[in-house]
Amino acid sequence: MLWFLMGERRCKNGVELTMIAIGLMSGTSLDGIDAAIIETDGDGVSAFGKKISVPYPEGFRETLRQLLGHNPTDLSNIQSVIEELTLRHADVVKELISSAGLTPDQVDVVGFHGQTLFHDPDNAITCQVGDGALLAKTIGIPVVNDFRSNDVLNGGEGAPLAPAYHVALARTLERPVAFLNIGGVANLTWVSPDGGAVAFDTGPGNALIDDWVKRHTGALMDEGGSLARSGQVDEAALALLLDHPYFQRPYPKSLDRDAFDVTPVIGLSIEDGAATLSAFTSAAVAEAARLLPAKPLKWLVCGGGRHNPATMAGLRKYLATPVEPVEVEGWDGDALEAQAFAYLAVRSLKGLALSYPQTTGARHPLTGGVRHDP
Ligand SMILES: Nc1ncnc2c1ncn2[C@@H]1O[C@H](COP(=O)(O)OP(=O)(O)O)[C@@H](O)[C@H]1O
Ligand SMILES: [Mg+2]
Repeated sequence: MLWFLMGERRCKNGVELTMIAIGLMSGTSLDGIDAAIIETDGDGVSAFGKKISVPYPEGFRETLRQLLGHNPTDLSNIQSVIEELTLRHADVVKELISSAGLTPDQVDVVGFHGQTLFHDPDNAITCQVGDGALLAKTIGIPVVNDFRSNDVLNGGEGAPLAPAYHVALARTLERPVAFLNIGGVANLTWVSPDGGAVAFDTGPGNALIDDWVKRHTGALMDEGGSLARSGQVDEAALALLLDHPYFQRPYPKSLDRDAFDVTPVIGLSIEDGAATLSAFTSAAVAEAARLLPAKPLKWLVCGGGRHNPATMAGLRKYLATPVEPVEVEGWDGDALEAQAFAYLAVRSLKGLALSYPQTTGARHPLTGGVRHDP
């Protein structure tokens, strides 16, 4: 890991070009909060700092789970949840800052993704909750949140947003190359030889596997892919799962966490269901790969799904292209999404684009995010 370049921040005519930024991600897996520090000028990344992941206690996770999938037209009913979510993020920021040996005044901005409760881009609705003003006040650092609204208001899907960051990281790589983030939903960024990008959600990530395992065993995930690896893929069920119009749809496109109906696996053994859902995640990526302009030289995987060997083996089988965790390039696959929101927060402060016609379908490159000062 690169060391934090404190004291070497680049300045031009007294104006700081690089900023120290923290990104906060709480994804649809509902596993907890990831927080990471980077130093960036909003273009390249000059240093990677610490990261921490703090799991949600089961009670709060369940509270969030109950709220998923409903379009909360009236957020006043869930104010107490939003406040708790925000204060949990504040605690994570404080822990990260102190573990990095920093003080709040050394951090320029915090990118606060918030929790997606509902995502319906066809109807121009995407809802991430989290109180940016309360977070800024509690941590004493400027906060950028609400990254997705401007995109959906301007014809975009509102997702995925990490591609701008993937493209920045891909500068040093042989291209075309693909990033695959396997969170609750999975999304890819394909970076062309000239640095252009195509990005979209590929299909399910971990959420269906997590839900299946939770329903049958009460566990939070298929740890190490052990259930999937001891089961058999039910090919008929897999074919039914893949027979969904989403996979043929041209990109840009994005998905809600619960877009897929898992009826085909109901009735399978726990192991076979886990194997089949894991194969579904992997095979959906192969469907997505068929839509790409050219085959990537390799796939670099980030997000929790890369810890599941069944999913990784499935990717290698269905893609027939090298598939590696992003660690092979020296990056931290558990921090990458959080780092992306640190990067996007700096871009937002500088009025730079967060999304593009090729990534979200926005009508033109768009900035976004809302700034809150302490
Ligand atoms: N050791 C592991 N074995 C199997 N699956 C894992 C492991 N670690 C993490 N995961 C999966 O990754 C998920 C968390 O991934 P994450 O990238 O944080 O997703 P999100 O962005 O949706 O929160 C977990 O819910 C689980 O499904
Ligand atoms: Mg997570």
